[in-house]
Amino acid sequence: MTPKPGQKILILDFGAQYNQLIARRVREARVYSEVVPYTIKPDELKKEQPKGLILSGGPSSVRLKDSPFPDPGIFELGIPILGICYGMQLMGRMLGGTVNAARKKEFGKTELAVDREEPLFKGLNPNLICWMSHGDKIAKVPPGFASYAHTFHTKIASMGDPVRKLYGVQFHPEVFHTPWGIDLIKNFLYDICECKPSWTPENFVDLAVKDIRHKIRNRKVICGLSGGVDSSVTAALIHKAVGKQLTCIYVDHGFMRRGESEQVRQTFESHFKMNLVCVDASARFFKRMAGVTDPERKRKIIGEEFIRVFEEEASKLGKIDFLAQGTLYPDVIESESHTGATSVKIKSHHNVGGLPEKMRLMLVEPLRYIFKDEVRNVARQLELPPHIVYRQPFPGPGLAIRIIGEVTPKRVKLLQEADAIILEEIFKAGLSRDVWQYFGVLPLIRSVGVMGDERTYEYPIVIRAVTSEDAMTCDWARLPYQVLEKISNRIVNEVHGVNRCVFDITSKPPGTIEWE
Ligand code: XMP
Repeated sequence: MTPKPGQKILILDFGAQYNQLIARRVREARVYSEVVPYTIKPDELKKEQPKGLILSGGPSSVRLKDSPFPDPGIFELGIPILGICYGMQLMGRMLGGTVNAARKKEFGKTELAVDREEPLFKGLNPNLICWMSHGDKIAKVPPGFASYAHTFHTKIASMGDPVRKLYGVQFHPEVFHTPWGIDLIKNFLYDICECKPSWTPENFVDLAVKDIRHKIRNRKVICGLSGGVDSSVTAALIHKAVGKQLTCIYVDHGFMRRGESEQVRQTFESHFKMNLVCVDASARFFKRMAGVTDPERKRKIIGEEFIRVFEEEASKLGKIDFLAQGTLYPDVIESESHTGATSVKIKSHHNVGGLPEKMRLMLVEPLRYIFKDEVRNVARQLELPPHIVYRQPFPGPGLAIRIIGEVTPKRVKLLQEADAIILEEIFKAGLSRDVWQYFGVLPLIRSVGVMGDERTYEYPIVIRAVTSEDAMTCDWARLPYQVLEKISNRIVNEVHGVNRCVFDITSKPPGTIEWE
């Protein structure tokens, strides 16, 4: 289900931790790119017709026999190639140059002096900062190559053979710490590979719609909607392609944020006129949660029950052939190893939207080759409302893992009210796009307070707000005092059963974003 435009760049994966970043940077330059195993054969490459190849970095050393080497035939195809770090050393080693172990390893920010501008460094400042991370270096360039740049410790930090269009850089242009790296990548893409910056949300939508129609034809497809951006974009794309052949199923487990289920109904049923089955399954979820306090048991029970409800609803729809999923490219790359072994990973993660495998449906995954930021662009292109386009990540088990201890309807209602105030005030303060996640947590302790002339003994609400790039790590968001004050005042005054607010100032690690 890849929307494959004619102009693409393939990134041969030698195991670098920055591979996804290379793919992202190329796409930021509006050229479609994919990561492929380094074992790809020249014949396959001929079929794929990429406009250029990028050989990624990697942890190995080209001086060792067991390290990953590509088929030497890839250098004979006339396709422009850019080798990055290990990728450049491969060129050095395989094309007749010399690669030695560096006497002094170079890591981190390094000053780079450009000796020859053309064509990789065209238009760039000759004195640049770059990010290095290597143990080997090129001692002698291969025949036909010239050296383009050096650093204090590395005589040949970039090289190229303009006749064969083969280029190498010892540093990492894809990382944020090489500030002009994107310009070097653009020089490679536009000038050397002659790509056009044509990878845009519009052409993604057109290609995806064509692809989906071709795959589904007149058959039926179901899609689990969670209200999140990935499943919403998946549903909107498939709906655009096959209209009423799609039925979306939205399972309300009762642990959603306030008003969220209604918003889903409004958007997909009223606005997009999709076939939407909204199931209010809260009663059975609450029943199963009675007495459960362990976080992992909560997740497991909610996951199981979710699939059960989903299957029951799907079975009422008659014969279905396809299941649509919002799998994204990072999940795909993670599940494919650079040795070439590929495994289809069903997005189980810890996501409640994960999948009824035994239903034996064929998968449709229109977002399989795009990144999260691209999904948001596509969402805008499909005219999804801003509350979906910019929705903060929300865990599948919902508020159930933000309520410490037993999850009861009363406690969910209390947290929903407090949470809605946090959302509203952060939105009003114009901070909603700067903060990664922001929400309330309801702990299982009570404390003494005084309201009017009366002593109270009620729950606190924990305000959690974090900044993050990818949820792997986070920092606590420095919310302005006035915003915290407003949130605290409103919660204590408006939410019955709460007499205190506290602000969580823990980063991850050692904390986690969620409390359970
Ligand atoms: P933690 O708490 O591990 O969270 O720092 C990292 C990210 O994952 C989300 N999260 C979940 N998402 N099901 C989900 O779909 C879950 O059970 C779950 N637990 C955590 C969390 O919101 C954050 O974005």
